[in-house]
Amino acid sequence: MEIPSLQDFNNLIEKEDLEKIKDELNFVIIDLKKSKKTEFSFGINGTSSSVGKDFILGELNQILKTRTIERTKYYLKRFVKSLSEVKTRNINDINLNRWKEYDDIITDSLWIIDKRDQSGAHKADYWGNFIPQIPNQFLRRYTKKGEWVLDPFAGSGTTLIECKRLGRNGIGIELSPAVVKLAKENLRKEKNPNKIKTKVVTGDSTSIDFRVELKKEKINSFQFLLIHPPYWDIIKFSKRKNDLSNAKSVDDFLKMFGIVADKTYPLLDKGRYCAVVIGDKYSSGEWIPLGFYVMQEMLNRGYKLKSTIVKNFDTTKGKINQKELWRYRALAGGFYIFKHEYIFLFQKR
Ligand SMILES: C[S@@+](CC[C@H](N)C(=O)[O-])C[C@H]1O[C@@H](n2cnc3c(N)ncnc32)[C@H](O)[C@@H]1O
Repeated sequence: MEIPSLQDFNNLIEKEDLEKIKDELNFVIIDLKKSKKTEFSFGINGTSSSVGKDFILGELNQILKTRTIERTKYYLKRFVKSLSEVKTRNINDINLNRWKEYDDIITDSLWIIDKRDQSGAHKADYWGNFIPQIPNQFLRRYTKKGEWVLDPFAGSGTTLIECKRLGRNGIGIELSPAVVKLAKENLRKEKNPNKIKTKVVTGDSTSIDFRVELKKEKINSFQFLLIHPPYWDIIKFSKRKNDLSNAKSVDDFLKMFGIVADKTYPLLDKGRYCAVVIGDKYSSGEWIPLGFYVMQEMLNRGYKLKSTIVKNFDTTKGKINQKELWRYRALAGGFYIFKHEYIFLFQKR
């Protein structure tokens, strides 16, 4: 089935009979609904761009609801523009003329994500890794294809796997050689359709010379930083003393985190974004607001706070009777069971 071309839609804009325009649009909608295709091609500046059926149907139905010829023409013009012109900002590739197509990009500060993305090379077997949806959301919103991302606590390589998928270049630094090996194995399993570079380096982010890594790639800076440090000692990642999970006190942890913040800040381009993923912890019955402490460390470096995102998490590994035990303990001890972590989003001024 052929749906009208851009020119056909433009011709409709020239008509003065509202009923006729709506009749024609109704025919297009009926044909679209019958079609098994989910994408349609429209020529844009000599190239062709594919547009989702749901998007077209949504727009056409909105046009049908209008009551005046002026409004109908306004929406038709906007629709043609959305098919023929690309409007992006300088920090991502989101086509704002078709913003309704990005309904999976979260714009709320509360993230309730039920299921971990386990597709491709993503696995949940590295204790302490974050869900791939976190880098996925940020890379799409705060980077363009071909730009460079730094993850100074790379772990099993979740950020870099997403980089490969989304066509961004990435460097990850990870302290434990065994974990670097795991990340490399994971990365090998992910296809590289955009031919970008992803690299995991064994190193200590509190002492590594990041400039050397940049030089090797012949770049001067990064366009996005994704920082997912240990949540102090909640999970002991290794026995190394330069591992943030082995910090002797909160102050020691913040000092080590602060060094990483100091070293990475100059590497980020002005106006670009940095996200820190972190949770709080209890210590001897006292809630330690690690998240807010870390946020303050970032603000002290001059970053502008753009959002405090609260994200749910559920310990899926926990058995039901363990959950009941924790609920009993919480009731008896007067505390709350952790169900959320924070993502602080910053922009370099
Ligand atoms: C919360 S995990 C990051 C997980 C990662 N986002 C993922 O999805 O796999 C923190 C990681 O930081 C590493 N780490 C701890 N101290 C470090 C340091 N000084 N330099 C580099 N990596 C460090 C740990 O070994 C651990 O793998």
